[in-house]
Amino acid sequence: MEPNRSPDVVVAKVIAWTPDGSVRYLDQTRLPREEVFREARSIDDTVEAIRTLRIRGAPLIGIGAAMGLVAAATLEARGGRLTSEWLDNAIARLTDARPTAVNLAWAMQRMRRVGVEALETTSDPARLVGVLRAEAQRIWDEDAAMCRAIGQVGNRLIPDGATVMTHCNAGALATGGIGTALAGIYVAHELGKRVRVLSCETRPLRQGARLTAWELSCAGVPVTSVVDSVAASLMRKGEVDLVVTGADRVAANGDVANKIGTYGLAVLAKAHAIPFYVAIPRSTIDLSCASGDDIPIEQRSADEVDAAPGADVYNPAFDVTPASYVHGIFTDRGLVEPPYEKTIRSIFD
Ligand code: MRU
Repeated sequence: MEPNRSPDVVVAKVIAWTPDGSVRYLDQTRLPREEVFREARSIDDTVEAIRTLRIRGAPLIGIGAAMGLVAAATLEARGGRLTSEWLDNAIARLTDARPTAVNLAWAMQRMRRVGVEALETTSDPARLVGVLRAEAQRIWDEDAAMCRAIGQVGNRLIPDGATVMTHCNAGALATGGIGTALAGIYVAHELGKRVRVLSCETRPLRQGARLTAWELSCAGVPVTSVVDSVAASLMRKGEVDLVVTGADRVAANGDVANKIGTYGLAVLAKAHAIPFYVAIPRSTIDLSCASGDDIPIEQRSADEVDAAPGADVYNPAFDVTPASYVHGIFTDRGLVEPPYEKTIRSIFD
């Protein structure tokens, strides 16, 4: 039997510091055809990388923005000054790069807090860069650890021989570690369980077909790519044991914003009595959103849909799945189950 391959090969490629303090990242728009690495040095570079989805996935855009802030601060510090005005402006621009994944705003708030504190005691730009870099590294390291913890929870819910359907990409390419939805699958695979993945294509940008199928194949996990409209008939034939997706933001009542099409899968799963799970680190929970109605949904360019010229295009990047469709949430603090109003808050105690 072929030895189990590991997702760590992909994890190591996703993002890195360069020796001169800028950010080297894998351009996800070029996968799976080619592995192209790019560098972000300025705030413009990082904002552009996040907007164009070269760096994408909720946890990774938080990590990438924090690292990109450090890269730009390193350049700014060479000019001899690093002011609170510069920091505020840079953080505001990075926070605005994409609206739905709360991990981005959460990471920027953390960077701002340490930056402001440091500026109270030092005006030495090199020291400030050091403080920012340490916080960016902590955000990354904590995410990697949370992914592992989510993986342990997911693994417990994935029986030997299971077929798991997933949507979009919530794997190593979307995080600082082994992913969220894919983490349980990787852990199960490492433990020698026979797990098979059905990866929904995920229109219009095909993160499932391009990215999830690529990274699972790299790690030696059996994966079958299907177009989105195949999900219903596969469920009806009894070929799906559970559905697991990631999320960009989870509201205090358990409503889940994730890649467009997730809600449809959750409705289908319920209709076929298949458990629908969501996998997230705590950084994806936004207690300031009482429900999914409060979550801003990103609208993207009509060009992504490739419709006939002259047609109007409606291209929301995300949808909201009401909590009543969510069987359970795999988190770094264990399995969270309904009633979510109580259980979600309890993992912050
Ligand atoms: O538009 P994307 O590719 O950034 O969307 C990503 C998703 O919807 C993921 O499921 C979500 O961010 C969770 S990633 C662990």
